[in-house]
Amino acid sequence: MLNLSEEELLFLVRNYYDVFIVAVFSIGLTFLVSKIAWRSLDMTTTSYRGGGIPGRLGLPFVGETLSLLSATSSIKGCYEFVRLRRIWHGKWFKTRIFGQIHVFVPSTEGARAIFSNDFAKFNKGYVKSMADCVGEKSLLCVPHEDHKRIRRLLSEPFSMNSLSTFVQKFDKVLCQELKKLEGGGKSFAVLDFSMKMTFDAMCNMLLSVTDDSLLRKIDKDCTAVSDAMLTFPYMIPGTRYYKGIKARRRLMETFKDIIGRRRSGKESAEDFLQSMLERDSCPPNEKLQDSEIMDNLLTLIIAGQTTTSAAMMWSVKFLDGNREAQERLREQLSIARARPDGASATLEDFKNMPYCLKVVKETLRISNVLLWFPRVALTDCTIEGNYIELKNL
Ligand code: HEM
Repeated sequence: MLNLSEEELLFLVRNYYDVFIVAVFSIGLTFLVSKIAWRSLDMTTTSYRGGGIPGRLGLPFVGETLSLLSATSSIKGCYEFVRLRRIWHGKWFKTRIFGQIHVFVPSTEGARAIFSNDFAKFNKGYVKSMADCVGEKSLLCVPHEDHKRIRRLLSEPFSMNSLSTFVQKFDKVLCQELKKLEGGGKSFAVLDFSMKMTFDAMCNMLLSVTDDSLLRKIDKDCTAVSDAMLTFPYMIPGTRYYKGIKARRRLMETFKDIIGRRRSGKESAEDFLQSMLERDSCPPNEKLQDSEIMDNLLTLIIAGQTTTSAAMMWSVKFLDGNREAQERLREQLSIARARPDGASATLEDFKNMPYCLKVVKETLRISNVLLWFPRVALTDCTIEGNYIELKNL
């Protein structure tokens, strides 16, 4: 026990009065907040209490975000997050992630009902961190009217003609890289390989960037942006969000430089960016502003790289366990062997390889290369007989 004299006590109270007040206030506040949080936790752990979708919303704003993040960064992935909640609440469940209530729709029919009503009953609704990363003019974030225009202008360069050129470019680079690996004789991680391949290919197709040091610089920044997509959106130094937003700013500078060099005539190329810049003299509705071009360059690189490389990785994984499919694919390689030496595969070749297409489609059916694609319900709705009342979630 502290043995303090009256003077000493008086001295402490006089000199540390503010500290005492703050301490007492903090303890009181902590007690109050935890009581409110506990009550809200209890109230939102309802299972069909009051109608609605079952599930747990957890603490205000944070909700179950930490559980989702911990599942996605573990080897089990986000599937574990979904699996557990299905056991606890049933196939349909709600949760709160990054401050927003999400309802998980567990079937193809449900998904179809939602996506066929895009922009009518549902809006695109990516979480704030994702929108901050890809930019407000990205196709993933813009409102309906802008979406229609940007989508139309962005799709034009993806004609059959340019796809055909691109297929040949991609095949050439893929064969070169595989030969190098064969020569090296070492094992490698398929996902790392496909991530690098698809990244280099996207940059080549969109911006004609082939210089390795510039590619690695853009790659590093795009990875930081990807890593920041599902995070708490606060600019706190050291966090993934902070690093991602800084990387995004660097990327915008890099794109601005490339656009500047193209406009000044110092550089020219036949690629996606050039086709956008050729519209400079068009009326506003027929061209993209620079911010729209840059946000969507970043969106295309990230959307194109992560999906395609994951699909490549899954197809190798599934084929590894299926000898029969491997044999049938090898038979189709006869088409590739029939090409003159050194010639790359063409889009026409792939049309003559229906089994290859089947393998790709089946891979995309069984794997899930896109983590989630959320929609915001604009009004109360019924999906597969489940009535979702927004105010009751
Ligand atoms: C296996 C490959 C791919 C799969 C499975 C895939 C899947 C998807 C899905 C499901 C969406 C809808 C997301 C939503 O509406 O919320 C989407 C959108 C999008 N994807 Fe892909 N994608 C693939 C490859 C690519 C590639 C190579 C690119 C770029 C060249 C790309 C660019 C985009 C863009 C820009 C959007 C937004 C479209 C819009 O809002 O209108 N994707 N993708």
